[in-house]
Amino acid sequence: MRIDFFTLFPALFVSPLRTAVFHRASEKGLLSCYVHNIRDYTNDRHHITDDYLYGGGAGMLMKPEPIFEAVESVLGCTNSREAGVPVIMLTPQGRLFSQEAAVRLSHFDRISFICGHYEGIDERVRAKLVTEEISIGDYVLTGGELPALVVAEAVVRLVPGVLGSAESASEESHAAGLLEYPQYTRPPEYRGISVPEILLSGNHGEIARWRRKESLRRTIERRPELLKGVRLSPEDKKLINDIYAESLENKDH
Ligand code: 6GU
Repeated sequence: MRIDFFTLFPALFVSPLRTAVFHRASEKGLLSCYVHNIRDYTNDRHHITDDYLYGGGAGMLMKPEPIFEAVESVLGCTNSREAGVPVIMLTPQGRLFSQEAAVRLSHFDRISFICGHYEGIDERVRAKLVTEEISIGDYVLTGGELPALVVAEAVVRLVPGVLGSAESASEESHAAGLLEYPQYTRPPEYRGISVPEILLSGNHGEIARWRRKESLRRTIERRPELLKGVRLSPEDKKLINDIYAESLENKDH
């Protein structure tokens, strides 16, 4: 997979792209990332990338020309949309990012990101260059760089061969729609907390049942809305009954 990032702050990408999953994927020859400074595509003496808003108002907007020049010269096409390469703009007004979107993007062999800054980007960039807009959540960030890295990392780890088989398996467990069960390593007792007996028992059937139950419990307690997307077996329904019974018991004491 090839990823192109268009940004005014290329320094933000240096260490993330050299580390962990990005590094591993690149070393394996499965990923090439390129970071393009939008400022390099200005034609004026002062390399200006922003300007005042038509109609007035506080703040500045990113000018369209350097962004068009950058994207078109890198994607090698005057109409970037015809290149078949997603041109993703990171903006709080985009569609909320999800694992489903990550899976969809992981099927492309090339994707690109435009990182917005200042108060926003001239609307013509949206109209002619961008193929989709993504937000990573309902909170305010100053620019699209960290969101672009978030989206890219979620996508890259889905590219076949990037993760080891153990990590891919844990991927499947999140795809199943439940939160992860509590996990422990040595020592068996630490700071007054013991590892649940059952995990030391060697009884694999009982361990699987305990883990399923704790996954259900966490999901019910923390993200109950996720349960709607999960197919529950009759065994799951029994476990959920037990969880509710236990929580009532705990209220009585
Ligand atoms: Cl994609 N950009 C900015 N600036 N803020 C955000 C965001 C994106 N997603 C959540 N907050």
